[in-house]
Amino acid sequence: MFDLKPITAADKSALYAQLEQQLRALLVGERDFIANAANTAALLYHGLPDVNWVGFYRLLENELVLGPFQGKPACVRIPLGKGVCGMAAVRRQTVLVPNVHEFPGHIACDSVSNSEIVVPLVKDGQLIGVLDLDSPKFNRFDEIDQAGLEKLATVLVARAFP
Ligand code: SME
Repeated sequence: MFDLKPITAADKSALYAQLEQQLRALLVGERDFIANAANTAALLYHGLPDVNWVGFYRLLENELVLGPFQGKPACVRIPLGKGVCGMAAVRRQTVLVPNVHEFPGHIACDSVSNSEIVVPLVKDGQLIGVLDLDSPKFNRFDEIDQAGLEKLATVLVARAFP
């Protein structure tokens, strides 16, 4: 059993440093992407405040397909370029959305979501998928979240695609 230690971080950067430590511990000895992505989603869902959905979409045959997640059931397939996930995938850059209701083409999966961040998973220039987090709070995610989540995504990708 993996016991999540209580998160005690005083500030957001310290919180992400703790989450990185916990993620590295969770991924020890396992290279399967689905298993590791499932544990990553669980760690973030329970470790980060004010998130209602955390999960992955994998790039499969030129489409984003729902992967491991925590939260309510979500849409299964997202075409590249569509929604926040599709935009992050095409750009291969993190997309921060302070207010999803103002994002043209936003795909609503949970009506309580008000802000969102999507981080692409890239290995050697190849897109593997995206990490998506939704929050009921407007403007929930900032540059510290972006840096922290991009680092965690790198740790996950390095483990599954060495
Ligand atoms: N909102 C996303 C779709 C996925 S759900 O948030 C889980 C988007 O616009 O791509």
